[in-house]
Amino acid sequence: MNTKQKAGRYQRIYDQLKGLMEKPGNTMSKLATIAAVLHHKMDYFFWTGFYFLDGGELIAGPYQGPVACQLLEKNKGVCWAAINQQKSLVVANVHEFPGHIACDSRSNSEIVIPLRNTDGMIIGVMDVDSKELNSFDETDREGLEKILKLVQIKQLTINS
Ligand code: SME
Repeated sequence: MNTKQKAGRYQRIYDQLKGLMEKPGNTMSKLATIAAVLHHKMDYFFWTGFYFLDGGELIAGPYQGPVACQLLEKNKGVCWAAINQQKSLVVANVHEFPGHIACDSRSNSEIVIPLRNTDGMIIGVMDVDSKELNSFDETDREGLEKILKLVQIKQLTINS
């Protein structure tokens, strides 16, 4: 898939998700819907989901794909690096990333986008893994950041 095709696919997914986000639900159901749509529309997404900050821990939220770590060791790996650096990270080869946490040995590249609440505070991350090296680029970063802005998160609780 070339850059133009990828951008077009993100636009179509964005349009679909925009409609879905207007339907009744809560933050958790909306994030679960985002993970499901992306996972099934993007053939290179091997694991697609969320980790939430909870009492200083990073804990798995809604996701699609193989079983993943429920808790990520603090300040280790790509997800924690995105939180600590407060920015999206694109990792071409996870095996070269210091401290990378391999929840599934088949993952080879990864993108992590910080998830913010309406006050701009980071409350977790969206994480996507691919089985191929070098799957993610600026088009993925822009596409995913735009999709996450569809969800206005005041406070994240199981009932929110
Ligand atoms: N690889 C991530 C851990 C989460 S799994 O990829 C689902 C990391 O290094 O933070």
